[in-house]
Amino acid sequence: MISMKGRSFLTLKDFSTEEILQFLQLSIDLKAKKKGQQYPANLQGKLLADKNIVLIFDKSSTRTRCSFEVAAFDEGAQVTFLTNSQMGKKESIEDTAKVLGRMYDGIQYRGFSQQLISDLANFSGVPVWNGLTDDDHPTQVLADVLTAMEHTGKKPSDLKFAYIGDGRNNVSNALMIGAAKLGMEYRIAAPKELFPAQDLLDELSPVAGKTGAKISVTTDPAEAVKGVDVIYTDVWVSMGEEDQTASRIALLKDYQVTMDLLKASGNDNVLFEHCLPSFHDLNTSIAQQIHSQFGLEELEVTDEVFRSKHSIVFDEAENRMHTIKAVMVATLADLA
Ligand code: CP
Ligand code: NVA
Repeated sequence: MISMKGRSFLTLKDFSTEEILQFLQLSIDLKAKKKGQQYPANLQGKLLADKNIVLIFDKSSTRTRCSFEVAAFDEGAQVTFLTNSQMGKKESIEDTAKVLGRMYDGIQYRGFSQQLISDLANFSGVPVWNGLTDDDHPTQVLADVLTAMEHTGKKPSDLKFAYIGDGRNNVSNALMIGAAKLGMEYRIAAPKELFPAQDLLDELSPVAGKTGAKISVTTDPAEAVKGVDVIYTDVWVSMGEEDQTASRIALLKDYQVTMDLLKASGNDNVLFEHCLPSFHDLNTSIAQQIHSQFGLEELEVTDEVFRSKHSIVFDEAENRMHTIKAVMVATLADLA
């Protein structure tokens, strides 16, 4: 077992294939523990007893926040949900990080810049976990891969994912990094304007070369989904980009995940994943607003697909908790 104690979890780029596989195995074992099934003896007891964890959210969250809290409580840690702090307003990131590092064993941060979270890690001296930035969403990937493994029975290096939509957002970047590290096939279908950054593709190319991962980008969703295990999408407008709603709808209206697209995979058992939240109906205030402005009832995925037997989105959401628990345990606990 490779010890990851004391390390931050800012991006999967920082972890080797073996380490990411270890996070996945630990997630499986901790999930078994939670469900009262057999699990390894070294995971007995409260693995995070006497640990104090602080959660900072500069963007909204349901799954990530609840996952960190429930995971911490399950393993005996105390949690502070920090709101209205001085950070970045009256006090620098550096000074805040130094203060938090004196009081807490670990820091979760969700917000805008990857630089900020890396500063938090450098100055606090304790593990910092990335709960989503503009560029990355690494905890999400562990849940997405684990859920696909559970539903297909395949190991990560045998999985094929097609991501349809905004091909340069945090979730797609994170999935692409994870896919490169794990030797997966990862195909993006997006309009040219929303292709992933060439820098990231170049950075991952040697990684994929080593693991056997196949990463490709196309403008054609039907081509991308051929023979895949999982069709994945995310919102067309990420948090902080709301002023681009009109242009995104114009760019992405032909990239909706529909039953026809699922059929184009040629795989009767193709799975549908989405990090959530999702605009698949009109039951949210933002969807209502978009409907009145643009006349659309569904955005990135149809309600039919979202509610179909192919959709594993709620298993995926549950797995956020088990995988986030694994990240905290691996980086804070002494695992013999
Ligand atoms: N998938 C995800 O990160 O969900 P939340 O925004 O609710 O945390
Ligand atoms: N790309 C989305 C993911 C939400 C979990 C966003 O950043 O808003």
